[in-house]
Amino acid sequence: MLLSSDGLGHVILKPTPLKYCEEILPKIRGPVVTKQELIDAEPKFLPEQKIVVEHTDFKPLAKEHDAEFKEFEDFNVTGKSMCEGKVDDFVEHFRDRFRRLSGIIKERGPARDIEHVKRRGMGEKVRIIGMVSEIKTTKNGHRLISLEDETDTINVLVPQSDRQLIEESHNVINDEVIAIDGKMSRELFIANAIIKPDIPLHQPRRTEESLCVGMMSDTHIGSLLFMRQNFEKFIDWMHGRHGNAKQRELAGRIKYITIAGDLVDGVGIYPNQEYELETTDIFEQYRQFKQYLEQLPDYVEVVLTPGNHDAVRTADPQPAMSNEVTNNITSLDNVNLMSSPGYCSLHGVEFLLYHGASIHSIVPHVKTTDYVHPEKVCVEYLQRRHLHPVYGERPPITPEKKDYMVIERVPDVMQVADVHRNGYITYKGVIGVNAGCWQKQTPYQLQKGHHPTPCILPILDLHATKLSIVHFDKEVGA
Ligand SMILES: [Fe+2]
Repeated sequence: MLLSSDGLGHVILKPTPLKYCEEILPKIRGPVVTKQELIDAEPKFLPEQKIVVEHTDFKPLAKEHDAEFKEFEDFNVTGKSMCEGKVDDFVEHFRDRFRRLSGIIKERGPARDIEHVKRRGMGEKVRIIGMVSEIKTTKNGHRLISLEDETDTINVLVPQSDRQLIEESHNVINDEVIAIDGKMSRELFIANAIIKPDIPLHQPRRTEESLCVGMMSDTHIGSLLFMRQNFEKFIDWMHGRHGNAKQRELAGRIKYITIAGDLVDGVGIYPNQEYELETTDIFEQYRQFKQYLEQLPDYVEVVLTPGNHDAVRTADPQPAMSNEVTNNITSLDNVNLMSSPGYCSLHGVEFLLYHGASIHSIVPHVKTTDYVHPEKVCVEYLQRRHLHPVYGERPPITPEKKDYMVIERVPDVMQVADVHRNGYITYKGVIGVNAGCWQKQTPYQLQKGHHPTPCILPILDLHATKLSIVHFDKEVGA
């Protein structure tokens, strides 16, 4: 047989070209083999259409209740992106961030403008609020924080003698908005307290009925490493076809599924990604994803937000995925597309979903965070009332006139993703969850030393506000 040049190009992009030829070539007549003939001979993925035999004792509670999904516009950039990347856009963006975050801090007490403090506030004990433009350590061990408000800039000195405040100053990062209590002394403002916008103690809303939300992310459909069998076992489990009576009862209470981004693996996300793809067509990836959603019980309401592998811009905030690219996914009545970040109410309980790529600009600067416990970053977001403070690092921020990353409304649940590790945290009453993923460790993660925890499903009981964890990560059939 002779391979045409496009056929050769197609073969060498396969992860195991020789094995591929052994499987495909016997199905082709030849003698000249084109790319199209190869594609036609490839096995087509179709989620297994099972003959459904429901347990007669599977009576899902969730089926008896209508879904109550409501999206809040506060975080929704979809269709509103007017940014052209001009200087004015940046000015408006950071002004909006400053005004809204300083407004949150001012709810707890007044603050002086920096200009006033510099000109007339010598020696007076005051609070100032500013956006951090630079942080450095002097040769004597003091910390210098440059702050900026709409009136002026100021250099804040954190004295080396105040060990606790020095420690807190190491938790300050660029472009976040903070308040400093202290007084002006010559050219410097001497700090005696650092205050973050933070959240008050929060009483989570709860439902009357014991309905649940299954939380997932990073399914990465289209990847060779997508854990298809485990995912299909999860779908079976949702129908009450696995597990003991207690597990089937839990499955039947799941009214909502949230998927916080990286629904598919995408195409061209990083160099040589094609070697790790089972499906190299983005439309086909979403078609397969939709087929899985079709197999979920039809009474389950699904909420989808994008991640950096999905077919929208990677810069934050990410608009909702479009129906054009997702194979008209909202033709399924129970599917809702939101932006990232996206904010919604599920049966009255409020969820903030954010794919969470800004963890890569938090972990290098905040020593209380790491990639092993990505849920900890939820605390950093909530204390700063901001999901992506540092400008100029990974991933980029689009300077919209409104800063959609400001957490103006306090959610009951914050769901993040991206790092592929499952973890949970509660901060002042807000539940933080990183659901993990449904993809095996990638070569990139191996190289970085990141260890994913795939196929674990956290399920939040909206009445008890408690999490149950179901493992689909064991060998299928075990
Ligand atoms: Fe991912």
